[in-house]
Amino acid sequence: MTAEPLEIYLEEREVERDLRRDVRAGLSAEEKWLPPKWFYDARGSELFEEITRLPEYYPTRAERAVLAERAGDVAALTGAKTLIELGSGSSEKTRLLLDAFTRRGGLGTFVPLDVSVSALEASTAQIAADYPGLRVRGIVGDFTRQLDRLPTGGRRLVVFLGGTIGNLVPAERAEFLAATSAALEAGDWLLLGTDLVKDPSVIVPAYDDAAGVTAEFNRNVLHVINRELGADFDPAAFEHVAHWDPEHEWIEMRLRARRAMRVRVLDLSVEFAVGEELRTEVSAKFRPAGIAAELAAAGFTATEFWTDPEGLFGVTLAQAG
Ligand code: SAH
Ligand code: TRP
Repeated sequence: MTAEPLEIYLEEREVERDLRRDVRAGLSAEEKWLPPKWFYDARGSELFEEITRLPEYYPTRAERAVLAERAGDVAALTGAKTLIELGSGSSEKTRLLLDAFTRRGGLGTFVPLDVSVSALEASTAQIAADYPGLRVRGIVGDFTRQLDRLPTGGRRLVVFLGGTIGNLVPAERAEFLAATSAALEAGDWLLLGTDLVKDPSVIVPAYDDAAGVTAEFNRNVLHVINRELGADFDPAAFEHVAHWDPEHEWIEMRLRARRAMRVRVLDLSVEFAVGEELRTEVSAKFRPAGIAAELAAAGFTATEFWTDPEGLFGVTLAQAG
């Protein structure tokens, strides 16, 4: 089967308006910051895929190991008819779930949702070709905003992989989980991938690789702002920094100005002092008890918690109450 045309929940001009608003707020703040979703234009999605193949980036391999082991259980326990994937990217690991559902039978529709049109175009075409009989409905949307419009159709399983939930700060996570819970009916399911707290000597290199791919990914947000808003950032003048914050148990990505400079963007003139840092992303690491508590606060009951053999990454299956 061919994939259906992408459904657009997010119009081009809304995206522009959001980008302008975020850039204005973040770059005029005392401590400069930018929200992470702007990393993912076509180039950013490509760079992220490259990150997933780096020797230092263990989360993808560890999560894949869990899914390879447990996909059959997920299919049997949930009996889902519709599988919705948030922040789906290439949906490469999700194929393990689609394979298990194919063996079991009963899954009718796969709905990947992402802000990245290029990632969705590629993933929906390939998955539709490889899973004949599966309806593939890609949605261009923002998982922090459009959960009230999730497709219905029999028992649903929402999957949110890659530890992407860790890219939200705790208040945003609570809001996201509450919105997901509100969008589901009692008995529907959530499969949530979370990177786990571990020694920073393992975490930091995953976000600061020797080949410099993560550095390029981080700087890509400046290319996006230059292109979309006609700004004049010199991306090469910013150094990638990955800082482990032991209090929040998250890794913080920053861009550090190598020299003093002034950047023109929108109607702003933004000054950077030498060494000044712009925060671009956090990636929180979790503990099992914390995951269960955050899910419970949103009305989910965690029924299974699985990890890879090394205990690097956790996957939780939870049911909406
Ligand atoms: N799930 C994949 C990709 C993870 S990378 C994996 O496990 O490998 C994070 C993905 O989320 C990217 O594809 C990015 O485009 C998407 N994304 C980031 N912020 C988003 C948002 N607010 N709404 C929808 N998708 C988002
Ligand atoms: N969800 C991924 C993570 O937290 C995203 C990611 C990986 C990322 N490497 C990055 C984001 C580097 C910014 C910079 O692991």
